[in-house]
Amino acid sequence: MPEFQTSPGMRDILPPESARWRRFVHVFADVAERAGYGQVISPLLEDLGVFQRLGAATDVVTKEMYDFVDKGGRHIALRPELTASVCRAFVQHRPATPWKVWYTGSQFRYEKPQRGRYRQFDQVGIEVLGATDPYLDVEVIALGWEFYRALGLQQVDLLLNSLGEPDDRARYVAALDAHFRANLDALSPESQVTLDKNPLRVLDSKRGQDAPIVAAAPRIADFYSDEAGAHFEAVQAGLTALGIPFTIDAKLVRGLDYYRYTTFEYQGGTLDSAQNALGGGGRYDGLIESLGGPATPGVGFALGLDRTLLACDDEGVFAAPSTAVDVFVVDTTGGLEALRITAELREAGLSSDRAFDNRSMKSQMKAADRSGAAYAVIIGTDELDAGTVVVRPLRADYDPATGAGGQQAINRNDLLPHLQKVLS
Ligand code: HAM
Repeated sequence: MPEFQTSPGMRDILPPESARWRRFVHVFADVAERAGYGQVISPLLEDLGVFQRLGAATDVVTKEMYDFVDKGGRHIALRPELTASVCRAFVQHRPATPWKVWYTGSQFRYEKPQRGRYRQFDQVGIEVLGATDPYLDVEVIALGWEFYRALGLQQVDLLLNSLGEPDDRARYVAALDAHFRANLDALSPESQVTLDKNPLRVLDSKRGQDAPIVAAAPRIADFYSDEAGAHFEAVQAGLTALGIPFTIDAKLVRGLDYYRYTTFEYQGGTLDSAQNALGGGGRYDGLIESLGGPATPGVGFALGLDRTLLACDDEGVFAAPSTAVDVFVVDTTGGLEALRITAELREAGLSSDRAFDNRSMKSQMKAADRSGAAYAVIIGTDELDAGTVVVRPLRADYDPATGAGGQQAINRNDLLPHLQKVLS
């Protein structure tokens, strides 16, 4: 066992998996940019206060934050999510609205690590600030849906809820609080603690003891104002118009405190129920004001990259892209020719690799096979003297019967056009 290993909940992402990560972000960027979203790149660290505005009843803030005092005496934290940073950036830079942005990057939460739950994990996401239109909620939800389709994922369920406007939510929370307090003794000790912090979160309880009390709890739909009811209706009508299937889940409150109106979650069909949220989001009001900006509505989502890739593995889709090079150069004359040829090929846009340390022909050919290259270019002293190189196909997909694509010696000067032709 080496002395140092990654700390719990942190991982090294090695090739070729890292190439898959990059492609994941690339596919997401493509979906978002086609809908007019621009990328925002936020710092990993923010003033602790930025995240405290996410709400005092949020575990992410109270229990899971990586925070410390820096050398300048500032109390800062590693970001646990990006919505707060985007809102802080909005208040700082005051861009024109609606401001449509997408993002990607690592988040940090001190959670108990397990499959699909890490202390450093990656998200992709979008936020739109400055519009209340319910069809914007639909656009946002539909972009997440489209992204899963682009990955090839089939088993994704969309859960939808509305928490009403701030006033509705407040009245609902009061009613829930009264209901749970009337049944306090029957609630699990854990839920009794949760109740003191946020009665909504008690709805999240998966404990059998709580189930009957949760089932009998007041329902949010009975607390909607006319406006909130109409907003929710319009969101559902928009999703239906786009042919996006959804299930209304009145208990979907989500883990962050800032949600109002629409909330939603994409759940993966293959994952354990404790970690089956592939992504989620909703509308939030009040966050911009609490960060010192003008009253501005927001809506967005974040999708967990790590977890979504686990779901892709389960469904056998979105495999790691090949990192194989086009050409591997085998040079037994000392290595200078390999240096020249790889440089020439790379400059012309072909990917190429080579062996080092003047290994034997056999060892270099092994390395060529391992590289996954389509062709080996072989130079020994005979070829060097004759001004030629040997080009040998390494993959099985050439036809040995006709010799098409078989090994051949060609003039050194013809190498680049020859490879360009056979690789095209
Ligand atoms: P969230 O539900 O906390 O929302 O996180 C979104 C997604 O990030 C989750 O559905 C999950 O896939 C992934 N995730 C969260 N924690 C972990 C973890 N410890 N390990 C692996 N994956 C994880 C937010 O972060 C909000 N900012 C979403 C949002 C944007 N709401 C409005 N705009």
